[in-house]
Amino acid sequence: MVKKNITAKKSSKQISNIESAKYAAAKEAIKLIEDGMIVGLGSGTTSNIFIKELGNKILTEDISVFGIPTSFESRMLAIQSGIPLVSLDQCDTIDIAVDGADEVDRKSLNLIKGGGGCHTMEKIVDYFAEKFVVLVDNSKIVDVLGDKTPVPLEVLPQTYSTVLRELLNRNAAPSIRMSNKKKMGPVITDNGNIIIDVFIDLNNPEEVERDLNNIPGVLENGIFTKVDKVIVGHPDKVEILER
Ligand code: 5RP
Repeated sequence: MVKKNITAKKSSKQISNIESAKYAAAKEAIKLIEDGMIVGLGSGTTSNIFIKELGNKILTEDISVFGIPTSFESRMLAIQSGIPLVSLDQCDTIDIAVDGADEVDRKSLNLIKGGGGCHTMEKIVDYFAEKFVVLVDNSKIVDVLGDKTPVPLEVLPQTYSTVLRELLNRNAAPSIRMSNKKKMGPVITDNGNIIIDVFIDLNNPEEVERDLNNIPGVLENGIFTKVDKVIVGHPDKVEILER
């Protein structure tokens, strides 16, 4: 009983440290935003903090900034936060994209994204941007990419069995991401597709990123290899990692 209480206290402290670290990273990223910019708005809890802070900045500094959301969720939050939106069709360039990540390789700055299943739109917006900035708390930094976090693939539902076969041929360990709350069956993405999570050797991430996308039925994978800057939030400071 006593042990249970101690464990609960410790984990809530860890959670608040992670929250402070996410805030620190988001606040640092806000400094990069200037009047007139078009900004890619990432998805996930860390990006959500950035989006709310950006809404505040637009309001208090009376600047003109347009956002391009990467998911249904970031679109809703941007609208609630008072950020005017544009679509990809309406702009020639995105000045900066700010997004979260599930794992960051400290040396190469390659990432795994897609914990929220939004990586297809995230990659389109993040790769199209002039500058791609990643926000993470320090728990996301790893020495070996993909050991603990699987790479998600967005897959056309009709092709799941052929995609699974192709993945097994590559000695990968695939599993269909299931919805365990409020819906039976698989997680369905914003684009109406399913997610297959896969543990696969990431010794050469660029090659694996290309190869996975060559499997018919795979729309996009969650390996991101074109990152300009990573802002790592710690509870009491930020650390900047650049290529
Ligand atoms: C969503 C993502 C997120 O950026 C990633 O899962 C990190 O989320 P969080 O900031 O909540 O830890 O890739 O598809």
